[in-house]
Amino acid sequence: MADASVNRAWRLRRRPVGAMVPGDLELVPEPIAPLEDGQALVRTLVLSVEAASRIWMGHQRAFMPPVGLGEVMRGVGVGEVVESRRQDMKVGDIVAGFVGWQEFCCADDQRLEAPLSVLPSPLPAPVSAFVGVLGHPAITAYLGVDFLQPQPGQTVVVSAAAGSVGSIAGQLAKLRGARVVGIAGGPAKCRHVVDDLGFDACVDRKDPDWPARLDAALPDGVDSDFENAGGPILDHLLMRLNLNATILLCGEVGWHGLVNIDQIHMQRATMRGIIVTDHLDRWPEALGALGALWATGQLKYDETVVSRLDQAPAALTSLLAGDTTGKLVVTIAEPTTIPGHPLTTTPP
Ligand SMILES: NC(=O)c1ccc[n+]([C@@H]2O[C@H](COP(=O)([O-])OP(=O)(O)OC[C@H]3O[C@@H](n4cnc5c(N)ncnc54)[C@H](OP(=O)(O)O)[C@@H]3O)[C@@H](O)[C@H]2O)c1
Repeated sequence: MADASVNRAWRLRRRPVGAMVPGDLELVPEPIAPLEDGQALVRTLVLSVEAASRIWMGHQRAFMPPVGLGEVMRGVGVGEVVESRRQDMKVGDIVAGFVGWQEFCCADDQRLEAPLSVLPSPLPAPVSAFVGVLGHPAITAYLGVDFLQPQPGQTVVVSAAAGSVGSIAGQLAKLRGARVVGIAGGPAKCRHVVDDLGFDACVDRKDPDWPARLDAALPDGVDSDFENAGGPILDHLLMRLNLNATILLCGEVGWHGLVNIDQIHMQRATMRGIIVTDHLDRWPEALGALGALWATGQLKYDETVVSRLDQAPAALTSLLAGDTTGKLVVTIAEPTTIPGHPLTTTPP
């Protein structure tokens, strides 16, 4: 168990150019300052690893400012309150939000932007579910599919279909009666997307014949695209758009310039970006719907689990390489205030 007087934190030392390399981040031991009034000490239990982390390491214009050099790497996770001088947080509370890539964080009640939220007690699911099927990736999928409004008889494409957002988005579109075609990297992932997640088809983006296979999977064109990746496949999809099609831009892991962008105009299509934290007012509604579907077994959900904070950079590299399925989490510590409560759905 981590000593509650010393923190270990991944600090950004250098902005990566292209792929991350050792030395871009440094794992630093540092003393924990005594709490002041209005602060609570939170021990990280589970850290969510996601593509946005790589964006925040760079300096491009994004939905949040870059992480500053020397700062703790930004990251979402779930933790437990181990000491408190806050009125609204007591020892034993399980909290979720921006805990950072570190073992402990100080939750200050003056930090008004992105405060940690206290989860229900008793916790109704494994800890990691609150950064997965009951957390921001699934809420992103829920809100994105709600924007696309897929109908029976329509075709929806979902990229990164085996990932945490895409896997849920495709299932939600299926539940609305649409035909859903996934895109994923490799035959095993594609089989999983069809056989386990229930998509109608899935195209392997690593197959050299992907353009022909994608066309074959889309005999009626594309009405909606839940876009998690961007890149040449999105460019190809633009040429398959139906009249009045809708594209939801959720992520751009494989971004490059779009040659066929004129098709948005020609097909009177709509392209819209989403940032899940812009819609906090809809999180309770989304969580209610997702929780009900998950509890009744209507939503399949996978995790890739990595142990230990020191593995976080390698975990991010494997996510960006497409080596993970479902939600990627790093387990940091066992909960002491709810002993025995499962950390993850899937054992590491
Ligand atoms: N807008 C929001 O509010 C919001 C919130 C959460 C996440 N996101 C975004 O949603 C997307 C999915 O996030 P996630 O956390 O669920 O990640 P994820 O899908 O679990 O992992 C990313 C996946 O992208 C695919 N990929 C990697 N490189 C690619 C490339 N060059 N071209 C095409 N695909 C590539 C890989 O899957 P395959 O190898 O199987 O294709 C990889 O597994 C990310 O872009 C993320 O930034 C957005």
